[in-house]
Amino acid sequence: MRGTAIPAATLTSPDVLVLGGGLIGLVTAWRAAGRGLTVTVVDPEPGGGAAQVAAGMLAAVTELHYGEETLLELNLASAARYPDFVAELEDATGLDTGYRACGTLTVALDADDRAQLRELHALQQRCGLETQWLTGRECRRLEPMLAPSVRGGARVDGDHQIDPRRLATALLRACERAGVVFRRSRALRLLVSRDRAAGAALEDGAQLHAGQTVLALGSRSSTLEGLPPDAAPPVRPVKGQVLRLRMPHARHGAFLSRTVRAVVRGCPLYLVPREDGELVLGATSEELGWDTTVTAGGVYELLRDAHELVPGITELPLAETRAGLRPGSPDNAPLLGPGTLPGLHLATGHYRHGVLLTPVTGEVLAEALTSGELPGLAEPFTPRRFAASPAQELQEQPA
Ligand code: GLY
Repeated sequence: MRGTAIPAATLTSPDVLVLGGGLIGLVTAWRAAGRGLTVTVVDPEPGGGAAQVAAGMLAAVTELHYGEETLLELNLASAARYPDFVAELEDATGLDTGYRACGTLTVALDADDRAQLRELHALQQRCGLETQWLTGRECRRLEPMLAPSVRGGARVDGDHQIDPRRLATALLRACERAGVVFRRSRALRLLVSRDRAAGAALEDGAQLHAGQTVLALGSRSSTLEGLPPDAAPPVRPVKGQVLRLRMPHARHGAFLSRTVRAVVRGCPLYLVPREDGELVLGATSEELGWDTTVTAGGVYELLRDAHELVPGITELPLAETRAGLRPGSPDNAPLLGPGTLPGLHLATGHYRHGVLLTPVTGEVLAEALTSGELPGLAEPFTPRRFAASPAQELQEQPA
């Protein structure tokens, strides 16, 4: 009986072993291969995971939070890279990533929501960001499907969107074209030899050795066996339930022309209209461990708030419901580059901004893998900032 051919690069040790083939693992692999490194990615289903759930907002400005001004710099840097990144990726693969430079409108429904949004607007202005306050009437002039009760909002023309599913498909193809090898199995255990990361043991029984290993397992990054306690990233899963609806074909732009974010009686909500007629509606934010159940309550709350905001939404076909896990870190910012264990790099903890931070993460990790140094803009995101708070205290193992 003939066995499945194993590519030669898996028989030798690659320069880089990337554990996790989500957007972050894929972009790291692609960019590292572009620097001349041999790369293997370990994932049972590359391109799966959070990329299949995320809405794909590139929301550096509208998803700004108090105390996250340092992260804002990285988010803006990544947003600025998006047009060239997409052009290069589409050129390399011939695939459309669904990037839309459509801007975002953030709106408020009642007086309290308006006050909250005013505060955010003031913060955005203090940070020197481009954002324009609008009355409710001006909001509805831009997006006529909004409810008459909308009290006001902010127009942010620089926050765009991409389709994360298309992005994942394109990155996968780009990796394949760049010679990245895929090992469709699960990474079970980090191999450590002489106090240095040396590769990983896989569910299929193989042991892959590599000069450098990248931990890019998203919310599961801290669950890899064999991680020394002070090298395990303090990353936890934060569940998000997301719905996908279909807008009427002839009227895509007429339904909503740009991303609409909202605060509806204190609850955040977003609607992301794609050119192909998909309308993504999200998202819950739940700290429930590894649970990815779509619940009646989650769907109800999203639809209830969306209906208050855009009453016509109840006419649309509901195409899909899904839940994913954001990799949350203690300061809501990613962990990038070398940690405390030599030979191990981290690319995880991207929380709400995994899609936005994809281009800059690939660039930063490729630089760290080739030079051993983090570029200046990524220095605040070194995993070493958490060296004193091992992940084990923060979460339990998945079932
Ligand atoms: N950035 C969108 C979310 O985390 O739901």
